[in-house]
Amino acid sequence: MHHQLQKKTTKKLLSNMKKLIAPSLLSADFLHLSKDVEMINGSNADWFHLDIMDGVFVPNISFGIPVVKAVKSLAKKPLDVHLMIVEPDRYFEAFRDAGADIITFHYEASTHIHRSIQKIKSLGMKAGVVLNPHSPVALIEDILCESDLVLLMSVNPGFGGQKFIERTFDKIVKLRSMIEVQKLDTLIEVDGGVSVNNAKQLFDAGADVLVAGNAVFKSDNPVKTIDILKGVL
Ligand code: DX5
Ligand code: ZN
Repeated sequence: MHHQLQKKTTKKLLSNMKKLIAPSLLSADFLHLSKDVEMINGSNADWFHLDIMDGVFVPNISFGIPVVKAVKSLAKKPLDVHLMIVEPDRYFEAFRDAGADIITFHYEASTHIHRSIQKIKSLGMKAGVVLNPHSPVALIEDILCESDLVLLMSVNPGFGGQKFIERTFDKIVKLRSMIEVQKLDTLIEVDGGVSVNNAKQLFDAGADVLVAGNAVFKSDNPVKTIDILKGVL
């Protein structure tokens, strides 16, 4: 009886787990961005992932507020804005005005994370903290209950097309158990080196949202690749 009950609960937990795909526009065709936005609109992808890099926090510069605004004008799905910038708080409002639905900012770039999360939420958006590969998940234990999501970097931030860092699996499992212990519904998002070869394993380990740049945009059939990543094909 007890065993059966336990089995049922596990099944329920698993079915409650989301399997969301957020294609990263960093790997899109910037000359024909509308084409790629329409592709995502018409696919089974769940969010648009937009990587904002300032050339200071990370050694690369990507795109900024006007591009987010342009994408918003065509996008039919939430915009997940990943800030790889120093002093992220200075820009929350501007990205909200540009159309961000979700903002994530780096633990490593922030001093007052509780305050930053409150600020994002008070602007009407979902808020998440990002951890670089070297930052252990224990660092965010006391801010987990305030976070709508946690983004685990599975590459060093700054560039698309890098190799997945295997150690991330361990972090997902640890973070999942922290979330369960605290009885929260915080989402776990994984970003960097996600492909059709590791997507299922990542969801099985406890990830809810997978970001994919190169895997989607460099594939021959992006719509189909999104389905494979999502596990519906
Ligand atoms: C890396 C960015 C990622 C990047 C992922 O700094 O945060 O979102 O676009 O690209 P892939 O999926 O190609 O590793
Ligand atoms: Zn990203």
